[in-house]
Amino acid sequence: MLGLLLLQVLASCLWLGHSEVVNSFASCPQFFYAGTPPNNALNPRNPAWICQRFRNQYHYATLYDRDRRIPVYSAYKYRPVSGKRSKVWYVEPQLTGKSDIKQMETESYLKEKGISIEDIKRSQAINDDYKGLKGLDRGHLSPCGHMDKDVSKIATFTLTNIVPQDSTLNKGQWNIYESKTMSQRTKDCKDTYVITGAVPGSTDIAGGRVNRPSYIWSAACCLVGTKPTRAWGAIAENDKDEVENLSLGELEKRLTSLYREMITLFNNACPRE
Ligand SMILES: *[C@@H]1O[C@H](CO)[C@@H](O)[C@H](O)[C@H]1NC(C)=O
Repeated sequence: MLGLLLLQVLASCLWLGHSEVVNSFASCPQFFYAGTPPNNALNPRNPAWICQRFRNQYHYATLYDRDRRIPVYSAYKYRPVSGKRSKVWYVEPQLTGKSDIKQMETESYLKEKGISIEDIKRSQAINDDYKGLKGLDRGHLSPCGHMDKDVSKIATFTLTNIVPQDSTLNKGQWNIYESKTMSQRTKDCKDTYVITGAVPGSTDIAGGRVNRPSYIWSAACCLVGTKPTRAWGAIAENDKDEVENLSLGELEKRLTSLYREMITLFNNACPRE
């Protein structure tokens, strides 16, 4: 155990020389109830832990899959307010391994800073990957509509928070879940923590660069006062306009069978029933 720890410390020191260590959510535990992220069973082979930063603030957290070039999940606090959507899209400089810029930026800004599109493309999706898609949208995991201020809304327009999502689902039942179902369920919640994710699928877009998820899911843990009092989940196949309501426990079981590993999404205090 001690050996393993030393090895980890050594490994992270070696890393430090060349870019910021992005191997945990240490800079942004506030987006997880009790600071507890999902267990490691969701981690892909080549993960990146992104504390989504924009204009000197953190807005949510994303676990990113650098090989499939889609997020595994985004985690945030639900604070829905209406407001503007962003017109531009951002990428994550830290994923290039060639930049110490610690917040999302546009592709063109990075180009000015001497980071080529090839460097950006290697470990993340770029705008071109999502151009000309038929029947698929840029689906937000952390949705613009659940953020409480304009900077946070803009910050959801980064490609590390986006998956190719069935257009009919995105504009149909998933939209109803995000707007109506979430607002009904959270009526008496003082705080609601949400984790929304995508299960990798067997098809892709952009010539194999970006995975097209088979499922989109979402889980919430609601605090009435200071106690986690209720929790729930939802899951949708990414080629049907249908969302299934589940308990948190049922969603974790479903994900456990899809990933073939035991999945826990929230701290134990969030009710599973
Ligand atoms: C899921 O639950 C919400 C809120 O309770 C409800 O309005 C909606 O109809 C349910 N959806 C399905 C598919 O059962």
